[in-house]
Amino acid sequence: MSLTTLATPCALVDRDRVDANTAAMAARAGKRGVALRPHVKTHKCAEAAALQVRGHDGGITASTLDGAIWFAQRGFDDVTLAVPLAPVRAEAAVVASEGMKRLGLLIDSDAAVDAIEAAARARGRIVPVQLKVDCGYGRAGVNPEGDDGPRLARRLADSPHIDFEGVLAHAGHSYASTTVDEVVAIAESERAVTVGFADRLRADGLEVRTVSVGSTPTAVHGRDWTGVTELRPGNYAFFDAFQAGIGSCSTDACAMTVLTSVIGVHPGRNQVLTDAGALGLSKDAGPRHVDPDCGYGVVLDLDRRPLPLRVVGLSQEHGELSVLDPVVFDTLKVGSMVQIIPNHSCLAAALYSQYVVVAGGEIVDRWERSPRR
Ligand SMILES: Cc1ncc(COP(=O)(O)O)c(C=O)c1O
Repeated sequence: MSLTTLATPCALVDRDRVDANTAAMAARAGKRGVALRPHVKTHKCAEAAALQVRGHDGGITASTLDGAIWFAQRGFDDVTLAVPLAPVRAEAAVVASEGMKRLGLLIDSDAAVDAIEAAARARGRIVPVQLKVDCGYGRAGVNPEGDDGPRLARRLADSPHIDFEGVLAHAGHSYASTTVDEVVAIAESERAVTVGFADRLRADGLEVRTVSVGSTPTAVHGRDWTGVTELRPGNYAFFDAFQAGIGSCSTDACAMTVLTSVIGVHPGRNQVLTDAGALGLSKDAGPRHVDPDCGYGVVLDLDRRPLPLRVVGLSQEHGELSVLDPVVFDTLKVGSMVQIIPNHSCLAAALYSQYVVVAGGEIVDRWERSPRR
């Protein structure tokens, strides 16, 4: 079945590229003796998760409770929920954990500990919990040098309803890097800060079993994982134009594209319109800090050859492409199709309920995506 028979816009996933991306990361972690607990937030798809955990023990990382439950129902029942838990979700999390091998929760506040303790006590459970530490991103997590971290860790360790597993950090600031050397330096500080914090807790007499770090850029470029017990990258399964822009991967490695139809050709305006607008591609600004002209994705033809087109505008259902070389007017007509590597595959993928799986340019399968958040 040819791509041109598909209703557009739709999400294409190249199976061989996912296979290669996930095999490379699994080998990388394995070679350094670090467990891989891949994040599944990018694809939210069981088939892609199965490729990610190959060679590792099957544990995954999720970004929502509903997503964790959906994956558990598909056999991935060792899950870390790597977002600080909203207290209102504590009871549901404890209930969900009863049917799972492990549902690890994350906290950085007393309010979340209060809620987890109350829910676990009510159901007679002991819940595994990790403490989030801020390794420099400045989003969530305790200050590794402050007093709150050791105090919260002690609280977790002393609770009869909580199994304090260890510490978890995420170097999301690696996305702001402009060079690979910067990513290498952030990967090292992600490691050093998180391991240092774990050692500080150990010096206080606490047992810290897990030291968990990971983002795609730092997992790709990090050189030393001494003291780290697990890596949690996720985006690398698909990669995207952002990751290619900051040097985490080549454009060729990007596994997810949005197939879109040309719905307008306007040589007078040097413009082509497609049916992938903001609800087809999402509206992530992309790696503008390294390429101000990156637009909203990378435009390819059906054989994945780059096209001289830039996605300059997105309204709800229209993609506005500016033409960089008028040669495209010779081939692109209304009804032609192009594919676009989105800037942020995690957000673009979330706009679709399934992936059309391709291999060698042929449609070979369909993979369901979690309908839940
Ligand atoms: C806590 C946490 N861990 C791991 C990841 C995976 O990072 P990446 O998306 O760069 O692979 C994320 C992504 O947002 C995250 O928030």
